[in-house]
Amino acid sequence: MKTISTLLNQKEFSRQDLIQLLTAEGDDRQALFGKAKEIKKKLIGNTVYFRGLIEYSNICKKDCYYCGIRLGNTKVARYEVDKEEVLDAVRFAWEERYASIVIQAGEVTSPSFTTRISELLADIRTMTNGELGITLSLGEQPREVLQEWYDLGATRYLLRIEVSNPELYLKLHPNNRTHDYTKRINQLQTLRTIGYQVGTGVMIGLPFQKLDDLADDLLFFKNQGIDMIGMGPYVEHEDTPLYEYRDQLLSKKERFDLSLKMVAILRILCPDINIAATTAMQTLDPQGREKAVMVGSNVIMPNLTPVKYREGYQLYEDKPCMDEEASECMNCLEARLHMAGAEVGYGLKGDSLHFVRREAGK
Ligand code: 5AD
Ligand code: FES
Repeated sequence: MKTISTLLNQKEFSRQDLIQLLTAEGDDRQALFGKAKEIKKKLIGNTVYFRGLIEYSNICKKDCYYCGIRLGNTKVARYEVDKEEVLDAVRFAWEERYASIVIQAGEVTSPSFTTRISELLADIRTMTNGELGITLSLGEQPREVLQEWYDLGATRYLLRIEVSNPELYLKLHPNNRTHDYTKRINQLQTLRTIGYQVGTGVMIGLPFQKLDDLADDLLFFKNQGIDMIGMGPYVEHEDTPLYEYRDQLLSKKERFDLSLKMVAILRILCPDINIAATTAMQTLDPQGREKAVMVGSNVIMPNLTPVKYREGYQLYEDKPCMDEEASECMNCLEARLHMAGAEVGYGLKGDSLHFVRREAGK
């Protein structure tokens, strides 16, 4: 065992070092958070970027064992938001100077769906003079489709690997071609070669997941040169196969604390990337997102999905902000962030500094 100050002053971290940080308690835990805060302040500052989140559709061809909108969950009424409603949400984001949005949906690869996305991108570009940052989170897609969307103005893509350990991946997904670990990992490289800012992430506190796995997740992000991360606690959902293992989980408080440590360690390990304070963090702790911002996160995704659709996008239980309209969410968040000592970067696209440096070094 190393002392916490030895550990925190290192430049490189082994798996064992990361496990030690993930289990830090008391003063050591505070020292970890202190170091993460210091690095964030120096490199990133106290600006938090807003990305307006539109949960465009809950139709999904995947059957991940943890997810409330998996194909096999027949209790969910499926929806796709009307184009005009998407454009209204985009207009709201644009007028409120959010500077960027995220379009997220379950995974659908049919040409009719991917064409609708292309049309939306074209409309958004016209509406906002191509000035609005657009992130897509639409699952695995053919290279040509990803290229087309990039050409239409989407510059960032989020595709969570969910877990970096292939054996664990197999326990959490059906063993078939639609849920292929290698294919998913390879998509990250495809996204990078097209020119996207590449985002990924994992869930924390899953059944069967060990601290070694989480340490490896962090090393994966570092080794792959990822630009943006969204990660948060696993939250059980009663209509999913994984619910059966709920008794094996860490308590919600422990899962939250582990997620907070993951954010802090990631900020130390990859100082110049964008790290989201995710909604799942808020699910397990009412101040979860603010706490994440205090130890390293610099991106928040306020929900702009029209309220009538929100019930349909319950990936896990107790998802917060189910009834708040976009403007209410915004005011609530802004006040909370001020209390946490952060400022909202209105009008700032907030590119990942890691990406900017990566491009400059080309
Ligand atoms: N708990 C937490 N996160 C979940 N996701 C899906 N199901 C859950 C759950 N039960 C996350 C996955 C997915 C993202 C859209 O939501 O990481 O990539
Ligand atoms: Fe895979 Fe929802 S079905 S994350």
